[in-house]
Amino acid sequence: MSASTVPPIIIKGIGSYAPQRILTNEELSHMVDTSDEWIRTRTGIRQRHIARPDETTSDMGVAAAREALANAGLQASDIDLIIVATITPDMPFPATACFVQAKLGLHNVPAFDMSAACSGFLYALDVASNMIRAGAYRHILVIGAEKLSSITNWEDRTTCVLFGDGAGAVILGKGEEPGTGILGGSLGADGEEYAILHLPAGGSAKPASIQTVEAGEHFIHMQGNSVFKIAVRAMEQSAKAVIERHGLTPDKIRWVIPHQANNRIIEAISQRLDVGMDRFWVNLDNYGNTSSASIPLALAEAWKAGKIQKGDHLLFVSFGAGLTWASTLIKWQ
Ligand code: UT7
Repeated sequence: MSASTVPPIIIKGIGSYAPQRILTNEELSHMVDTSDEWIRTRTGIRQRHIARPDETTSDMGVAAAREALANAGLQASDIDLIIVATITPDMPFPATACFVQAKLGLHNVPAFDMSAACSGFLYALDVASNMIRAGAYRHILVIGAEKLSSITNWEDRTTCVLFGDGAGAVILGKGEEPGTGILGGSLGADGEEYAILHLPAGGSAKPASIQTVEAGEHFIHMQGNSVFKIAVRAMEQSAKAVIERHGLTPDKIRWVIPHQANNRIIEAISQRLDVGMDRFWVNLDNYGNTSSASIPLALAEAWKAGKIQKGDHLLFVSFGAGLTWASTLIKWQ
């Protein structure tokens, strides 16, 4: 098949969900030694959403999925594969995608999780679009969902001010107009640097014990500064690689939808790509860093606001634990 006859893979529906409970910077300043001013100026975050104790990652994913299905004009029964990107699964196993499958009543539909931290949603988009392109599936539900509040150390001011909970979902399927939809992706990883952002215990390397609990090793551990520097470089290179591969230049991008971790990281990428901040969709002030949910949450917000038009080029770019990074280039159908 020549490039012009390959059927495009498009986003047919978008949905999102954020828990009702909002935790403000002001409230955090009574929990740890921090201030609204520090959090806003160092990160851009004003508030984050926190799931109820009984609300799971799969519950949030299902809420986002139902909205995406409605927006696509599809039934749950149209879905023939489910991928959930998450680092906060309901349980270590089975996959959270299996809980989503059961809650949507999709008996026998295959379901699996994608573990690439903040880059998870873009990794999943890449896998899903290529699986449809190969002819194996018709409609794939891709979810990014996180309950980061469940792995946050609420006594550690260097991390607890950063994270939030939420979910976003898209339905991928075949489109009609050649040259539109998901044009391509660029994925990368560097496992040698894993220690600057990880959760030390609870896996086979260090099973859960009284000692691991007492040492706080079931929480996110991050060397923020080191992550910051590598993130800027990796996201810049990843974004440039995918733009160049498709014969575009940054000025042709209508919306950059970046992983929402820190305003200063986003501004640095804006400068390095020479794309103005007015073309970056930023909502971390309201959500904080929601890892794999951050890009689909921002995409859903931009789409619901009517800001994405046919023919617009969108660039998603992410960075996270692994280390992993990823970009996706889309021409809106
Ligand atoms: O999503 C996955 C990828 N993750 C990221 O991209 C996160 C990347 N990193 C960051 O966004 C930033 O590094 C942080 C927001 C985490 C931290 O900002 P920073 O400008 O790198 O601050 P820092 O870690 O260098 O800390 C500066 C100072 C320190 O005090 P001293 O040593 O200068 O006295 C910290 O102890 O700020 C202090 N500090 C705080 N002060 C008030 C750290 N956290 C806080 C806090 N409130 N919450």
